[in-house]
This record gives sequence, structure tokens and C-alpha cells, in this order.
Amino acid sequence: MTFAQARTLLAENGQEHVLRFWKTLDAGERKALLAQIGDIDFKAVARMRAVMAGAGGAKAKQAAPVVPKVHELSGKARARAVAAGEKEIAAGRVGVLLVAGGQGSRLGFDGPKGAYEIGPVSDASLFHYHARKVLALSLRYGARVPLYVMTSEANDAATRGFFAERGYFGLDPADVVFFTQGMWPGLDDEGRFMLSGKGRIFMSPDGHGGMLQALKRRGCFDDMRRRGVKTLFYFQVDNPAVEVADPAFVGLHVLEKSQYSLKLCAKRDPKEGLGMVVKRGGRFDMIEYTEMTDEMCNRRTKSGDLYFKYGSPAIHVFDRAFLEKEAAKDMPLHLAHKKIPFVDASGKTVKPKEPNGWKFEKFIFDCLKDADRVTNLAFDREEEFFPVKNAEGADSPATCREGLQAKWRRMLERAGVRADPSVPVEIDPVYALDESDIAARGLVL
Ligand code: UD1
Repeated sequence: MTFAQARTLLAENGQEHVLRFWKTLDAGERKALLAQIGDIDFKAVARMRAVMAGAGGAKAKQAAPVVPKVHELSGKARARAVAAGEKEIAAGRVGVLLVAGGQGSRLGFDGPKGAYEIGPVSDASLFHYHARKVLALSLRYGARVPLYVMTSEANDAATRGFFAERGYFGLDPADVVFFTQGMWPGLDDEGRFMLSGKGRIFMSPDGHGGMLQALKRRGCFDDMRRRGVKTLFYFQVDNPAVEVADPAFVGLHVLEKSQYSLKLCAKRDPKEGLGMVVKRGGRFDMIEYTEMTDEMCNRRTKSGDLYFKYGSPAIHVFDRAFLEKEAAKDMPLHLAHKKIPFVDASGKTVKPKEPNGWKFEKFIFDCLKDADRVTNLAFDREEEFFPVKNAEGADSPATCREGLQAKWRRMLERAGVRADPSVPVEIDPVYALDESDIAARGLVL
């Protein structure tokens, strides 16, 4: 893009101020700024401005949300689902999607969140558990299970480096595909771009919903098709207890011919920060925890149970073809008012004390609205959900390590091994994914 083209484009979109410091920039800075302008999706920016304009106004009336059907698998139904899932994995039709582009700011950790050391004995990282589970699956079922890791501009190099330095945790590097999510500009209260430097427009990641365009842009859907991958297990970087591509879950998804399947767990308390799967007017939808009213959080059934009892820990299975179709659509934009440092008209950097600008994100679960076939599966959170979100208190490294150890002790006990609660315990996924592996190793303590 030339300077003249950039100037015209910016003028057409009311953003000429971006070139205000052009004369003071050196050749490298000018080139970088033109490249940045060339990369901006101005159609998306127009949508952002429209969303901002409507943010204060009355919301369109929606049908009242009701809770959808939730499967609880046991006995023969569970065995059938496990068999179907194992068949899918063994046939090489399953891929794993890990979203790790977020900034982990609540945890106060500098670096990719997946590099956070959580192993109670080994200090192994979150990435270690995720990657080793994928390896364990591929060894157990004798199949390739590709791992697609979504990074962001801020942590891409560090994430790739982290995997490479640790030998990809034993995975074949050809089966680990990194892809970077998109960035787009934030806007000030007047809908104008903000400058993070004299020659730099402030940009932020486009949310985990940006995964769809990123998968397409980076050729990952093509890679999946080449490999024959049809079913995608999706999870977040913050939960080392997740049962990656749990055969029961994958199998139920396949048997139900589902497009989008979700694992759901009973909320710890009415206000726990979990998204809520609902149906409105016959369509599925997710209500994010920040959008639940007090009345909704506390609503009870006649028997005293919470009406909106189940939350979503963001553990999903997707049909690949469904996601490919979704990637061609515009997803809704979610906006957040934030304190964004910026360079003012005089060239000074200002650190605002109050929110002064808007960041925009797409959420992957907005695909629910388009899915005709959705399957919800209840699971036991004591076995599979210890996210690391906060530095202290609930959902912190301390609660996560405690939860993991309790899970591993139960696993040992089910395999007939006595686990002394005073002795720290840790089980590498490649040593044992579950008690059947422990029993097979003939371990007796
Ligand atoms: C999220 C879900 C919530 C769910 C809860 C379960 C959202 C908006 N909400 O909340 O419905 O019940 O987890 O623990 O996701 N990420 C990216 N790129 C981005 C933004 C996020 O890859 O631009 C990734 C993060 O690395 C992380 C995941 O998405 O793996 C979730 O992001 P986070 O901001 O931690 O979401 P929560 O508020 O915890």
C-alpha cells in the first residue's frame, strides 16, 4: 500500500488522524504503518462502529431462554459412546484445537499462559499436560492426532519456542500446527482509531471466535481435510484437568450426528463465571456469565434446584464441515470498554484513569445460533475442571493443584493402589490416562 492509497482509505473511513505524525517517522516506521493500514478490515471496523452506536440503546426483544436437554451417560449408553469415540480416534478422524491466544492478565503471568507451571511435583506447564494427553491418545489408539494451537501476535513466537525447546513434549512436530489469530483496531469513544505509538495503530486480538477466520487463512482446514480429520475437540488453555478428546464425548457427538457438542457441569454457586447454554425460540444460544441477571442466576425449580444449573467450561466437539461453513460468516461482535494508553495529538503518551476506548471480540460459542444439531453432555467437574484463572482464591493455581492431586489419588485407588494423602502425587498423561493404564502397568504400592 502506498502513502496516497492509505491516505484515501483513511479519509473515506474518517481516520485521517492516523497519519498525523507521518513527517516524524523514519522509513521503517512508515513502512510498518502502511502495512498495518493495509491489513485492517475496514468492513469489520464499520460493523464495530455500528455496534458501538447501538450499545446504549434498547436491545431487540428476544424469546425467553429455557434450558435445553442435557445427556447423562452411564451403563450401556456410555459404553456405546466410548466405542464410537474410540473408533473415530483410531481412524485418524479426530483433531484437537487448543485456544491459547489470550493474555492471562487476571493471573498476572507474563508470557503465554500455557507456559505457566502447574505440575504439583514436576512444575510441568499447562502446555505439557495438554500435549502429553494428545500424545497418550495417539499412542493408545495407534493413530495420528494433530494438535492445532491458536496463538496471538503477542505470544506466537514465545509459544512456538516453548514447544520447540521441550521437544514438542514427545509429539511429532509435523502433528503440531500453530496458527495465529487475527488482530484488529480498538476504537475511542468517537469511533476513531487510537495510536499506541506515533506510527502504530492500537490493535487487540479478535477473540477466540477469530479462530474460524484464522483456521481458514492459515490453511488449517485444508490440512485437516488432507489428513481426513472430521471431528474437532476444542478446549481452553487454562484447564489442565480436561480429558482431551474423551472418547465418550467424541462418540456421543458422532452418534448424535451433532454439529456442536458441549460438556456442561453443575455450577459451584449461582454466580459462578460460566457461560450458560440455552434455547430461545427453538434455537440454541450461549448467555455469557457477564450477561446473566441476578434473577436468572438465582432462579429455582419447584424442587429447589437452580433452573440454570449447568455452566459451560468451554469444552466442545465440533464437526469440521460445520466450522468451515461458519468461517464464511460474520460473527457477532462483543465489546468491552477499557483503559487504553494512547498517543495524543501533541505526541504525548496518555495513561487513562477511566475507560476511554473499546476492544472488540468474537466468541466461538456464537456458532451455537447456527447449529441445528447440538448435544449437551453433563460431566463431573471434580474429574475434569480445575481452571487456572486468578492468582489467588477460587480457580487459582492452588485450587488447581489440589484438584489435580485429588483426581490422581482417586485414579490410583480405582486401580487398586493405595494413595497416601500426605504424599504429593502427579501422573504424567503418557504414563496413565486413566486407571486402566495404571492397572496394566501392574503398579502396586
Ligand atoms: C471463558 C468463557 C466462559 C466459560 C469459561 C470457562 C469466554 C468469553 N468465556 O471465560 O463462557 O464458561 O471460560 O472456564 O470465553 N482466547 C484466545 N484469544 C482471545 C481471547 C481468548 O485464544 O482473543 C483463549 C484464551 O487463551 C483462553 C480462552 O480463550 O484459553 C478463554 O479466554 P478467557 O478470557 O480466559 O475466558 P473466561 O473469561 O475465563
